[in-house]
Amino acid sequence: MEFLDLPQLLSAAGSVRLPGSKSISNRVLLLAALAEGETEVRDLLASDDTERMLEALKALGIGVVHLGGENWRISGCAGRIPVCQAELFLGNAGTAFRPLTAALALAGGDYVLKGVARMHERPIGDLVDGLRQLGADVTYLGNEGYPPLHLKPATIRPGGVLKVRGDVSSQFLTGLLMALPLTGEAATVEVIGELISKPYIEITLATMARFGVTVQRDGWQRFTVPAGSRYRSPGIVYVEGDASSASYFLALGAIGGGPVRVEGVGHDSIQGDVKFAEALAQMGAQIEMGPNWMASRAPAGGLVAVDLDCNHIPDAAMTLATAALFAKGTTTLRNIASWRVKETDRIAAMAAELRKLGAEVEEGGDYIRVTPAGLKPAAIDTYDDHRMAMCFSLAAFGTPLRINDPKCVAKTFPDYFACFSAVTKAAPVIAIDGPSASGKGTVAARVAAALGYAYLDSGALYRLTALGARRAGIAWNDEAAVAAIAAGLDVSFSESDIFLNGAAVGDAIRTEEISAGASQVAALPAVREALLFRQRAFNRVPGLVGDGRDMGSVIFPRATLKIFLTASAEARAERRYKQLIGKGFSANLSDLLLDLQQRDARDSGRSVAPLRQEADAKLLDTTSLTIEEAVNQVLLWSREASL
Ligand code: DC
Repeated sequence: MEFLDLPQLLSAAGSVRLPGSKSISNRVLLLAALAEGETEVRDLLASDDTERMLEALKALGIGVVHLGGENWRISGCAGRIPVCQAELFLGNAGTAFRPLTAALALAGGDYVLKGVARMHERPIGDLVDGLRQLGADVTYLGNEGYPPLHLKPATIRPGGVLKVRGDVSSQFLTGLLMALPLTGEAATVEVIGELISKPYIEITLATMARFGVTVQRDGWQRFTVPAGSRYRSPGIVYVEGDASSASYFLALGAIGGGPVRVEGVGHDSIQGDVKFAEALAQMGAQIEMGPNWMASRAPAGGLVAVDLDCNHIPDAAMTLATAALFAKGTTTLRNIASWRVKETDRIAAMAAELRKLGAEVEEGGDYIRVTPAGLKPAAIDTYDDHRMAMCFSLAAFGTPLRINDPKCVAKTFPDYFACFSAVTKAAPVIAIDGPSASGKGTVAARVAAALGYAYLDSGALYRLTALGARRAGIAWNDEAAVAAIAAGLDVSFSESDIFLNGAAVGDAIRTEEISAGASQVAALPAVREALLFRQRAFNRVPGLVGDGRDMGSVIFPRATLKIFLTASAEARAERRYKQLIGKGFSANLSDLLLDLQQRDARDSGRSVAPLRQEADAKLLDTTSLTIEEAVNQVLLWSREASL
């Protein structure tokens, strides 16, 4: 599985231009397709969900032309879909599936609508019941009440009063309302139950109005589409930036200092999720807004917990759940039952992953309660849910973490992690690589102490793995078994010693035998893989100095400062000799030299993460330098790199 490792973050500040809103994009595309005339759609969201809609429209014979960038021209069919028989695959795009079902059921053709497995678990029965009241012929091809669906030509009985449930997904009402103008007759939709996610209905009504159809609204209970309503292209339509996507960046500013500014939505937005800014302000964030932008800053005393009804901001509320990790007290998000029928069961997924990080979480049918704790590194699963991946990136303010399957953000925000790194500053890393006995360990430890940074002796992890394998009676070339030892190492580092399974290891990992074993196990790809995240988890605030062979090339490729520290083999053999004799071990200089040369050859010649000087690493040859001189040189470079 692909993953993305995030270092702990120091701060956030900067500006982001938001991708277009998913909800507006797919509504505009469908109405442009159903309208009379051509519509030029500008700033459309480029994402999986909009691609599914564009593909479906093309399959239905609608003229779809890419004008370059985020701009498209849609030739409307004036309510008469050109292709009367088609099978459409709509992925996991609810904003394509529900409205297309309604429009095609009333348009009168023979269509099959399918999606990915999760789409077939997301209910659609209430919408189908609504359509059947108009005479639509809809068959479930799998489970009753769920996609896939077969729509057949039918005699539509337009007009009258329809009933639809509003308490499962507002997309059922959206789908019906957008399709009703196709019948040409006046029709009233009555909502049964409390309508959830009302702001999404506002987007629907505003978009329909843009295309010439004004729905009469009586509270949130009755909606009437007047007789003779038909969609007409407004010519050019600009899609607003995505307000739910704004939530991650506003939260970054509120946690990481700020100001973080988002461009594309502001107080003139038709999207309900801009209300997220108010929720964040209740947590203490300082929010500013203009017509087309918003910005956030952290409050002086840090964020505070809130207890909120989030029914009006179901998607953006997920961002509050991870922002809660940085708020004083217990945050409760209520009235979020719709989370359970989204891309995944978001309440369950959120609770499971927050717990992995160490937070205390209580979940109920329609609420989640989060109490922060000192966060610990974890690999976060994202459940093929873009918002899970984006929400959990915020947790990097508390700990380094791994995001599994990060590309799921493509559903709504393919460039999310590039924008994320552009506005965040990670805890710095000084990566020092070099051959055995070059003195890099001593230099690295002293530089770390001088800067107040943590120190990672990565060679010790390979040495501990070799020792652990030896103690378990496992041969050093048994890749799978040694990798399992590496993955399960119970190790902690202190100033004075390293502890394996709670016991100090002392010099047991420094013997020549274990040095040779470490070099052998370090050549096994599965062992390196097993130790990868463990090493990256050291990348914490305020900073890290790591020494090894692949710090700058593999483990911390974005290190702030990379150094290749070396010395002649003879000088290194002599240093090692003195070190061993000083510790009371017996040693032979020429054997040590030979051994070092063999180890150098193995460390540089192996296929995985070989020792080499990176193009962007500075060379520090210590053959004729004292330790102090070497340390001072690194500190000088670190000042130059403004660490
Ligand atoms: O730096 P050291 O001598 O403690 O390292 C012990 C062994 O582990 C050495 O043979 C190289 C290997 N190693 C590695 O392959 N990658 C690292 N990052 C660190 C050490």
